[in-house]
Amino acid sequence: MHYYIWTLGCQMNTADSQLLASELEKHGHHATENWEDADIWVINTCVVRQSAEDKAYGRLYQLHALKQRDPSRIIGLMGCLVGVRDPLRLRQKLPFVDVFMPPSDPRPLLTFLADRGAEAEALAADAVARAHRDALQDEDDIASGDLVLPVHERNSLVSAHVPVVYGCSFACTYCIIPFRRGVERSRPVGEIVAHVRSLARQGVREITLLGQIVDRYGKDIPDGPDLSDLLHIVHDVAEEEGVARIRFLTSHPNWMTDRLLDTVAALPRVMPHIEVPNQAGDDEVLARMKRGYTAEDYRRLIARIRERIPGVAIHTDIIVGFPGETEAQFQRTYDLLAELRLDKAHIAKYSPRPGTVSARRMIDDVPPEEKERRRKALDDLQSQIVAEINARSLGATVPVLFEDRHRDKWRGRTPQNKLVFVESDRDLRGRVEDVQITWTGPWSMQGRLLSDVLATASGDTITLAVTR
Ligand code: 5AD
Repeated sequence: MHYYIWTLGCQMNTADSQLLASELEKHGHHATENWEDADIWVINTCVVRQSAEDKAYGRLYQLHALKQRDPSRIIGLMGCLVGVRDPLRLRQKLPFVDVFMPPSDPRPLLTFLADRGAEAEALAADAVARAHRDALQDEDDIASGDLVLPVHERNSLVSAHVPVVYGCSFACTYCIIPFRRGVERSRPVGEIVAHVRSLARQGVREITLLGQIVDRYGKDIPDGPDLSDLLHIVHDVAEEEGVARIRFLTSHPNWMTDRLLDTVAALPRVMPHIEVPNQAGDDEVLARMKRGYTAEDYRRLIARIRERIPGVAIHTDIIVGFPGETEAQFQRTYDLLAELRLDKAHIAKYSPRPGTVSARRMIDDVPPEEKERRRKALDDLQSQIVAEINARSLGATVPVLFEDRHRDKWRGRTPQNKLVFVESDRDLRGRVEDVQITWTGPWSMQGRLLSDVLATASGDTITLAVTR
């Protein structure tokens, strides 16, 4: 059978969709790039804010209408809208959904398909699926613990995500994620290494290790490795398998040890890029969010990261309009961002989420227009800061890992994860090339391949020599 997955929300969902795709591939189904052709439709959902949840329902009702015309289509709902507990109410509300899958767990769909005999049916009826399955089985390096990419991504996907710790056991008062993704569980090293290795063998050149709080990796395994140990292990695998770059996200300020930062600085394939949410710059708001640090702690952390990792880029998340946030408190967040000059800030308007402490015990009293004003003020500030930071790269030469073509240009990223566009007729996918930056803006930069610059320069010399 053909499947199509819509992935909403965070990178963890991207990774979960990849795991689901891998399991479906192993069972003889294959991806289609054209969703109308799919027999199986899966929406991998996000509920971090109401707007994300609305998107999931929008897509779902569109698919429902199509399924009414063609009841043979299978609709699967995955991710944080479903959650880790049996979604009884959701089952009643959405009787047309065939399968509900918790985050990171493709098994319900596999069971559903097996019960229908769909795998045998798919393999018998579909020569492409059969050939594909045989090809997979022939490759002795594909083991059951490997991650298998859909055909169209094999030897073409450059950057992939690998979860290392699932769930979250913290209780930030605004956050619904612990309720939907369950308690913190670190994955065994062997499982992580198998995924990294198999992705590398299918052409992936950059791996991002994921966790809701990635720097908590291993804390739930007695005497287990921590994130720093894991980075060393993954770095060895990367060297063996030709993975050029390793990143990890998202970090929590309270778990960023010096040992971890020094590991990032010491390992050449681990990129100087840290994502560490601040959420607010006011201590009283931070306390009511239950973040466990003060603005001064965060300020000191940023200084420590910059001291230990030369050239580091730091990304943050901010929530504006948290219940009770006064103008003066918002101003402290604004001032902190202005002072710290970070490389990226993802700014969200507070959205009350059912079941969370802030939704149950606090009043969502900042009016929508005021939330929007605060969001825009921070956005404007941050774009100005990033434009200035990026402008410092003008004329510099930076190594860029190229991912894909976008319109008539190649698109890639610097070690600091900044987007760079370059014109070239060569196939740059998956290559790391030196690029001279010729233009910078807040969201991206443009440049020329250094090899092209040098070729033109030596061409000029030849011309000169000839004319002289
Ligand atoms: N409202 C708005 N933003 C939220 N986030 C998490 N929960 C909420 C909420 N209820 C933001 C945080 C987090 C990011 C992934 O989403 O900034 O870091």
